[in-house]
Amino acid sequence: MAPTITDKDFKVHHDRNQVTPFKDDEEEDAYTRYVTRYSDGTVKLRNPNIELMDQDILYHLALGNESHDLKEMFGDIKFVCMGGTPKRMDNFAHFIMNEIGYKLPAGMQLQDISAYSYRYSMYKVGPVLCVSHGMGTPSVSILMHEMIKLMYHAKCRDPIFIRIGTCGGIGIEGGTVIITDDALDGQLRNSHEFTILGETVHRPAKLDKKLARELKSLASADDPYDTIIGKTLCTNDFYEGQGRLDGAFCEFSENEKMAYLEKLREHGVVNIEMESTIFAALTHHAGIKAAVVCVAILNRLNGDQVNAPKEVMHEWQQRPQILVSRYIRKVLAQNGQLKSLLGHQGSIKSPRRFTFVQQESQAHD
Ligand code: URA
Repeated sequence: MAPTITDKDFKVHHDRNQVTPFKDDEEEDAYTRYVTRYSDGTVKLRNPNIELMDQDILYHLALGNESHDLKEMFGDIKFVCMGGTPKRMDNFAHFIMNEIGYKLPAGMQLQDISAYSYRYSMYKVGPVLCVSHGMGTPSVSILMHEMIKLMYHAKCRDPIFIRIGTCGGIGIEGGTVIITDDALDGQLRNSHEFTILGETVHRPAKLDKKLARELKSLASADDPYDTIIGKTLCTNDFYEGQGRLDGAFCEFSENEKMAYLEKLREHGVVNIEMESTIFAALTHHAGIKAAVVCVAILNRLNGDQVNAPKEVMHEWQQRPQILVSRYIRKVLAQNGQLKSLLGHQGSIKSPRRFTFVQQESQAHD
């Protein structure tokens, strides 16, 4: 049984000067739950300042807790899905809308909720929030702070965060779906390094292993591609940082590059991307269950340039989305929520007749 954390334990761990190590992962998880959740599962912040502020402006999302009714807008969110580009998240939002049978009121369409921020894009499809996070750890970090605060202001209960991305495979063919087991930094540490008040702070880059296994179990034998679990290397750069020979600069040889990739492979690293450690570190610190699912867009043992045809790339990028949608459908079905969403489906009874009616209407323009 998971240990129960008391106020006394909390004080000991909370005091920065007398942090005692946790006995084991279970004790740490129980502690994290204590500091990040109210008893009803709503998100608690590890920052006492926020409650004391007149208002909290989520600047990069173009939202605020006094300007918007965040509970009314987002209180039902169960899944936060993130990916690099606004276009990918727009696609995912439309895809998941269809997959979970969510229907917008007649005449309405999905709107980018954060359009006025000109930074990130955000679409809400019932219990699923689809957000773009940009490229690299600083961009993800800013978004994560504001998303976690959004979960708090909106009183979301036990939200699950999933990053849907692209990556370079190591000995893994393009099109393979990779679920991250452990996220490693450039020095192969399972943590993310922060500089806070000039001091170096490491936070564990831990993802939810059970969620990773559950996602893997949803891969189908009929999928015409592999879905695997492995370690992910997160770098601060796409070119030299990932051992590419084709950046504006390169001061190592091809042999040195190949030896490095081989070393990564021996360490169990199956893919490289640029966001997983910060995503894992901040979700873990916030006590949020999280997973990273990427598709390899090339095998780095064969080259550096991304040159798969556009249509192939488009199809590959749908693969992590398909896996994540299976998971979301499964959870919603288990909670009896899928049926209620599906119940709203069906304004277009026949796509063929719908097209015919549209064409007829246009003819009478
Ligand atoms: N994203 C990366 O960071 N690296 C790759 O090689 C491909 C996608």
